[in-house]
Amino acid sequence: MIIILDFGSQYTQLIARRVREANVFCEIHPFNYPAEKILASHPSGVILSGGPSSVYEKKAPKPDPKIFDLGVPILGICYGLQVMVTHFGGKVARAPRREYGPAEIIVGTENALFLGMDRTLPVWMSHGDHAEELPEGFFIIAKTANAPFAAIHHAGRNFFAVQFHPEVHHTPNGKEILANFLFQVCGQKPDWTMASFAEEQTRLVRNQVGKEKVILGLSGGVDSSVAAALLHKALGKQLICIFVNNGLLRAGEEERVRKVFGKAQGYTTHIVDSRKRFLKKLKGVTDPERKRKIIGHEFIEVFQEYAKKFKGVKFLAQGTLYPDVIESVSVKGPSAVIKTHHNVGGLPAKMHMSLVEPLRFLFKDEVRALGKELGLPDEILFRQPFPGPGLAVRVLGDITEEKLRMARESDFIVEEEIRAAGLYNKLWQAFTVFLPVNSVGVMGDERTYQNAVALRAVNSVDAMTADWARLPYDVLAKISTRIINEVRGINRVVYDISSKPPATIEWE
Ligand code: XMP
Repeated sequence: MIIILDFGSQYTQLIARRVREANVFCEIHPFNYPAEKILASHPSGVILSGGPSSVYEKKAPKPDPKIFDLGVPILGICYGLQVMVTHFGGKVARAPRREYGPAEIIVGTENALFLGMDRTLPVWMSHGDHAEELPEGFFIIAKTANAPFAAIHHAGRNFFAVQFHPEVHHTPNGKEILANFLFQVCGQKPDWTMASFAEEQTRLVRNQVGKEKVILGLSGGVDSSVAAALLHKALGKQLICIFVNNGLLRAGEEERVRKVFGKAQGYTTHIVDSRKRFLKKLKGVTDPERKRKIIGHEFIEVFQEYAKKFKGVKFLAQGTLYPDVIESVSVKGPSAVIKTHHNVGGLPAKMHMSLVEPLRFLFKDEVRALGKELGLPDEILFRQPFPGPGLAVRVLGDITEEKLRMARESDFIVEEEIRAAGLYNKLWQAFTVFLPVNSVGVMGDERTYQNAVALRAVNSVDAMTADWARLPYDVLAKISTRIINEVRGINRVVYDISSKPPATIEWE
């Protein structure tokens, strides 16, 4: 495996993605992760990430100096290069000209990092500081017009460092450069696959759990579904899945869970019908954040009460993913507390159980790949995101069963039509929002005075920003006609053309 030390770069996770795409397992740790711990994981190489600091400043993040004496190859990237240069007594200073954007490097001598590549390579630079004097033992292997030390090497120690960013797409040969570091320099083998991960996790989970039982809150979303499939493979009947129907779910959710995680598939899945209970708690509540709190709290109550039926269960499983686990310095600093899943936060502490988190080393698309490996259907693995509080934040204002019905039925039509138009996997999300306004319409010869729904369809890569989707008019027309014809109580459909920011994706 490879250890990546995070000095706060926005690209640190990208480095990890690239390493894993090369079928090599890696872990991200804070920049000051102790050398003894690194050694204990027997890595074949260490990568020092970039970062926003200036290495010559007093408070600049520095690694444990002992990492340079572990006898393990190191690749420094950007700030990582500057850390390496400074550690060995070279000089780093503010560059006369900031270098940001595309640049071209000229590779000098033949070396492992650029093996099999052209002598001139386009790369992506993003730095204000640069190395001015190399320490003893290091020599230049590539330069640019502005950066005489674009790539450097210490042959005796097997260290490499680059001033540019091989992990970003704008460095077209970046993948090859990283692959050369992994395979030529570190002698790694590309043997980390989802099949091998599933095998390894199966073994680890069995070791952790022994003959005990494990409870898992199954929501039907990607993460808990893949966790269920993996734990089922590892533990069979020792796994108890609990699915809480809170009445705020999309159409067909319970049926889908029954179909995929039912008795016929060998699962032990308990379906808890709590629809009435949630609705009662939400009665008259209009404030979105209060809705969220009530739902989160109620889920914990229901789950705990139900779980008590299974006496002596010592383990609680969660589908926590790697981005929630990484103690990234770019977020909160090296001592940051590991986050718990925002939808079920508080559950583990309250239940006094040990956690089983078989996905805690995976990124989202790796979870999908694992789910595929474990045989889960695409209708579960490739679904648009759905908020934890469900339709409660898509029925504006106070919630009633009748309003939920209209939200659910109209949402179902949107999904069908978006799928039929071949757009489901292209859009980040497409759904309806129930609007508590009445407007006049005419159906047949009758005057109507009924509710409206808003159609919301957005493109996004990470939900941080989003743009409203330019859906084809005929798709909009079909959705509108069907909703008004088929959903009792709706006589008007409007299209939301706001982007995020300043709007958000959900209306509440
Ligand atoms: P907003 O509305 O903030 O949504 O632009 C961004 C993304 O997050 C989802 N979302 C939630 N997910 N619990 C969740 O698990 C929530 O309370 C919640 N609120 C919004 C939303 O669907 C979108 O993908």
